[in-house]
Amino acid sequence: MLDYATLKAVHTGCALLSIAGFVARYLMMLSDASALRARAVRVLPHLVDTVLLASAVVLAWQLSANPLREAWLATKIAALLGYIVLGAVALRYGRSKPLRASAGIAAILLFGFIVSVARTKSPLGFLAG
Ligand code: HEM
Repeated sequence: MLDYATLKAVHTGCALLSIAGFVARYLMMLSDASALRARAVRVLPHLVDTVLLASAVVLAWQLSANPLREAWLATKIAALLGYIVLGAVALRYGRSKPLRASAGIAAILLFGFIVSVARTKSPLGFLAG
C-alpha cells in the first residue's frame, strides 16, 4: 500500500492535471477546435479523475475521516459533483456558446474553491476570508 505522503502527492498531482486538462479543453471549446473530439482528449480526463477520486477515498480512509462528520470533506464531495456537472455543460451539453463559456468559468472558480477547502480544512474555504 502506498504511504500517506505519496498518496497525497498523487492526489494533488491529479488535481493539477485535472484542472490543466479542463482549461485546455475549455480553450479548445471556445475556439471550436476539432481536437476536442480526439480520442485521447476524451479518454485521458476520465483516467485522471478516476485516480483523483480513488486517491481521495483512500486518503480519507487512512485519516479515518468520515464525510458525515467532517464538514470540509462533505463540502469537497458536493463541490466535486458541481465541478463535474459544470464541466459537462461547458464542454458538451451547453446549448449556446455564452452558456458554455460561463459554465466553464464557474467550473474553474469552483475548482479553486475546492483547493481552498482542501488546504484550510474548512467547509468555507477561501470564503472564510
Ligand atoms: C476536484 C476535486 C479535488 C481537488 C482539486 C482536491 C485537492 C486537494 C489538495 C490540493 C489537497 C492537498 C491539501 C494540502 O495542501 O494539505 C487535498 C488533500 C486531500 N483531499 Fe482532495 N481534492 C479533491 C477531491 C477530494 C475528494 C472528493 C475527497 C474526499 C473523498 C478528498 C479528500 C482529500 C483528503 C482526505 C486530503 C488529505 C488532507 C491532508 O492530509 O491534509 N479530495 N485535496
